[in-house]
Amino acid sequence: MPGDISTKPLLRALRGETQDHPPVWLMRQAGRYLPEYRALRAEAPNFIAFCLDPDLATEVTMQPVRRFAMDAAILFADILLVPHALGQTVAFVENEGPRLEPIRDASAITHLSNARLAETLAPVMDTIKRVRAALPLHVALIGFAGAPWTVATYMIEGKGGTDCERTREMAWSEPQLFASIIEKLVDATSSYLSAQVEAGAEALQLFDSWAGAVPAPLFDTAVIGPTKRIVKAVKARHPRIPIIGFPRGAGSLIATYAAETGVDAVGIDHMTGLLEASHAVPIGIAVQGNLDPILLLKGGAAMDREVRNTVAAMKTRPFVFNLGHGVMQPTPPEHVARLVELVKGEA
Ligand code: CP3
Repeated sequence: MPGDISTKPLLRALRGETQDHPPVWLMRQAGRYLPEYRALRAEAPNFIAFCLDPDLATEVTMQPVRRFAMDAAILFADILLVPHALGQTVAFVENEGPRLEPIRDASAITHLSNARLAETLAPVMDTIKRVRAALPLHVALIGFAGAPWTVATYMIEGKGGTDCERTREMAWSEPQLFASIIEKLVDATSSYLSAQVEAGAEALQLFDSWAGAVPAPLFDTAVIGPTKRIVKAVKARHPRIPIIGFPRGAGSLIATYAAETGVDAVGIDHMTGLLEASHAVPIGIAVQGNLDPILLLKGGAAMDREVRNTVAAMKTRPFVFNLGHGVMQPTPPEHVARLVELVKGEA
């Protein structure tokens, strides 16, 4: 039946099927490299309000799907909506990125509450319903959230792009305080993702963008354990929902991550060899990745060659084509069009 989940290429890959041409979508496929995104964003000074406006968020989610033959739309939202909904002050400063009122002690944590989580994030569910109604039949809708470690780094550092020093310090020297932040995030994220599935998300991705900053002895408590608890809680309510985990920078720990967290697919970053990762991950778990976003930015023969090689190398295993991290802002949209054609064997 057309539109039945079994016919959507992304969902087939996430269920462990191999396909001649892999499904493709790109992290940050909606965003500033698209002129139509920049035009809407110019009218909206507050990024959080922009994410929580279902009209705007639906439109922005649809933009890359209209332009390119993507196999998935990713919900337009942000991982920092969760700390915002827990009551932390979150702002996006132009040219600087996110700024949060940092959490450094137990009293700051007591101000965080999930009492208004569902209400604050309700507009996201509205966006999901609208996108599902607007999407072409073969295109799947991916919902997402940040994984607890990554969201905690923003909450504790007050910003991104650092080496997560204060977060590591807290994890080592105040393990109970650290655990209480992580547990709040496990609870909030499990409810948020379950609500996304109830609204119509057909797959979920957990972004652990700063997993590479976790000291190896803490990888279990900071990354694997919390991810496993979220996967378990969401699947208890929605047993069939596929979940993609993306522990960026996990390196050789990707194998343990894949084996222990319960995810259906793992996202591989461009620092990790796709073939090596693919061999280390159990065959029933799909692999997603991992073109260097710089190759997409530059385009040309090097991109063409790498895309073709990747598609050929991954033919025999469940695979989703993606980048190793998000689309970079100066990327020409024509390069994205070319990439999608190459993956589909149309170029
Ligand atoms: O297309 C999509 O991928 C869907 C939407 C999406 C956004 N953020 C929109 C966004 C998704 C999935 C995210 C996830 C996200 N947000 C992550 C994990 C993925 C990653 O990149 O590692 C992280 C770490 C964040 C936090 C965040 N949000 C940062 C650090 C920034 C500022 C820096 C930057 O890259 O712009 C944002 C803002 C943000 N989120 C923008 C967009 C389109 C740019 C906002 C703008 O228009 O100015």
